[in-house]
Amino acid sequence: MAGQEKSSLVLVIIVSMICAAAGGEAAIQPDQNCPTRCGKVDIEFPFGTSENCYLHPSFLITCHNNSAYLQVGPPENNLPVLNISPEKGEMVVSAKVAKTCYDASEKMVFTTPPMVYNLTSRKLFSVSQSRNRLTVIGCNSFGVLDGFDSEGRAFRTDCISYCTRSGAVKNVTATTNDLCRGAGCCRIHLSATGLSYFAYDSDQLFFNNNASTLIYKSQHKNQCSYAFLVQDGDYNFSPRDLDNFRNESFPVLLDWAVANQTCQQAKVNTSTYKCKAHNSRCENATTGLGYICRCQDGFEGNPYLYHGCQGIILSYFFYRDFV
Ligand SMILES: *[C@@H]1O[C@H](CO)[C@@H](O)[C@H](O)[C@H]1NC(C)=O
Ligand SMILES: *[C@@H]1O[C@H](CO)[C@@H](O)[C@H](O)[C@H]1NC(C)=O
Ligand SMILES: *[C@@H]1O[C@H](CO)[C@@H](O)[C@H](O)[C@H]1NC(C)=O
Ligand SMILES: *[C@@H]1O[C@H](CO)[C@@H](O)[C@H](O)[C@H]1NC(C)=O
Ligand SMILES: *[C@@H]1O[C@H](CO)[C@@H](O)[C@H](O)[C@H]1NC(C)=O
Ligand SMILES: *[C@@H]1O[C@H](CO)[C@@H](O)[C@H](O)[C@H]1NC(C)=O
Ligand SMILES: *[C@@H]1O[C@H](CO)[C@@H](O)[C@H](O)[C@H]1NC(C)=O
Ligand SMILES: *[C@@H]1O[C@H](CO)[C@@H](O)[C@H](O)[C@H]1NC(C)=O
Repeated sequence: MAGQEKSSLVLVIIVSMICAAAGGEAAIQPDQNCPTRCGKVDIEFPFGTSENCYLHPSFLITCHNNSAYLQVGPPENNLPVLNISPEKGEMVVSAKVAKTCYDASEKMVFTTPPMVYNLTSRKLFSVSQSRNRLTVIGCNSFGVLDGFDSEGRAFRTDCISYCTRSGAVKNVTATTNDLCRGAGCCRIHLSATGLSYFAYDSDQLFFNNNASTLIYKSQHKNQCSYAFLVQDGDYNFSPRDLDNFRNESFPVLLDWAVANQTCQQAKVNTSTYKCKAHNSRCENATTGLGYICRCQDGFEGNPYLYHGCQGIILSYFFYRDFV
């Protein structure tokens, strides 16, 4: 008994020594005393808040005043982190709303700077193509998003929200469940994969004749245009938002890969292969570049940790009986 304890103690020391020797700033596996939480956010490997806790500097999460951030350039551009999913290769961050307002004489009275997020320094991160939308709110308002993918290819998309004098906003919204269809609100999926740089802004279109929407607009208290990226399902337009829109940020889904290789390339070298859990497998990342790790069917947990994937007993029976 005592001997067994002693030998496992020796083993722990040896393992620690190996880890220390591997040292440097990144870690093959995290130290035991690495924090796994920052405020309300679980920080699991490959992410970490300090040296020897993250797999690679791209996975550094800055924990400040109990809030987690992804640092991407100057501090004002830091992206607050809302959730990290090591299993799915996803992260939800909070990105700001771009806003521009005019008074009745068409003079600009307020504007935020364009929202610029440059994840290029993080290499393996990109904004999810299929699960975020550029959304615009306002009358005669447009939003535009420019981006670059990791290879530097440029991308642009925009959408326009138009209100008519006849009150089409109310009519459209009265007849459909999808309220955001171009009247008072528009939205569009991104059609480029792997955007690691994105910038968006909002503004208003003006017309030189009375066919414009100024009559409709005058019924609303503000004459502002808003543009933002938002994860699908996290914003539902209400015509009330034309009068009173207060949200300053929205959740945005980022995809990440654990390394810049195909699964085939990665598996060749077991020491650099990141899927460490016994019951893990490799999968192409949705970023279009690199791979992520998953637990095999019937297992769940963190595939990046040696004993990360644990069996789910119910799934096991389900698997055996029905598949
Ligand atoms: C720290 O967080 C608290 C609570 O969220 C907030 O009231 C305070 O302003 C924050 N302090 C700094 C320096 O950010
Ligand atoms: C994004 O940041 C990288 C450095 O991290 C810089 O080289 C690049 O020019 C930036 N991209 C844009 C479009 O500003
Ligand atoms: C991925 O690796 C390829 C080849 O090694 C390299 O050309 C490319 O710049 C890398 N991309 C990133 C985002 O690191
Ligand atoms: C909107 O609905 C009102 C009454 O329901 C109707 O009088 C008006 O013509 C409709 N406008 C449009 C543009 O359909
Ligand atoms: C636009 O409407 C205003 C007031 O309703 C009117 O005074 C003006 O002449 C109109 N302008 C044009 C170009 O029709
Ligand atoms: C937007 O703001 C409203 C009102 O403050 C709030 O109830 C809602 O949760 C916010 N939505 C998001 C996605 O933050
Ligand atoms: C695996 O990668 C490590 C670190 O890059 C390298 O030292 C080692 O030679 C590689 N092994 C093989 C079999 O390629
Ligand atoms: C994963 O990516 C590689 C290289 O891009 C490709 O050859 C392979 O078919 C992909 N596998 C799957 C399952 O999509």
